[in-house]
Amino acid sequence: MSTVHNTTEYQPVFVGKVMDELQTVLQRYPNKQAALLPALWIAQREHGWISDLIMAEVAEVLGLTPAYVKGVVTFYTMYHQHPVGKNFVQVCTTSPCNICGAEDVLKALLSHTGAGDAGATSPDGKWTIVEVECLGACGFATPILINDDFIESVTPERVAELVRKYR
Ligand code: FES
Repeated sequence: MSTVHNTTEYQPVFVGKVMDELQTVLQRYPNKQAALLPALWIAQREHGWISDLIMAEVAEVLGLTPAYVKGVVTFYTMYHQHPVGKNFVQVCTTSPCNICGAEDVLKALLSHTGAGDAGATSPDGKWTIVEVECLGACGFATPILINDDFIESVTPERVAELVRKYR
């Protein structure tokens, strides 16, 4: 994933191989509008987050209005509307995990990564840690997602090792 988030000199996302990938995706859908979610997912993977310029590009490529694309982006929490760290970490802090120590896992992550606060990005740009609702692994507290990697049974003691692995 690109970690360049500079929007002052906009580089289109859907060119070359990425455009080829989108064309392949489009073949699986009845029309371009139906492929909006995967198109946004590709854009986010390439750019790191979904800026207004990215929304405009996606709209143009799919023949939609930027307002329609923005409506979808702002509906789903999985699309980042601002730059995030190279490692985007989601920690379940819903009640069942919370009573098993999720808050301590969160605190350890914020401390070991230097992110400081939930939702903030570490000064080195490598980590953004957020709290999320149930990740569907209540029997394996505490589950976390580091980008696309689902990791169960995380304890504060395991956090240092995980941070070293993904740094
Ligand atoms: S409450 Fe944490 S995974 Fe369900």
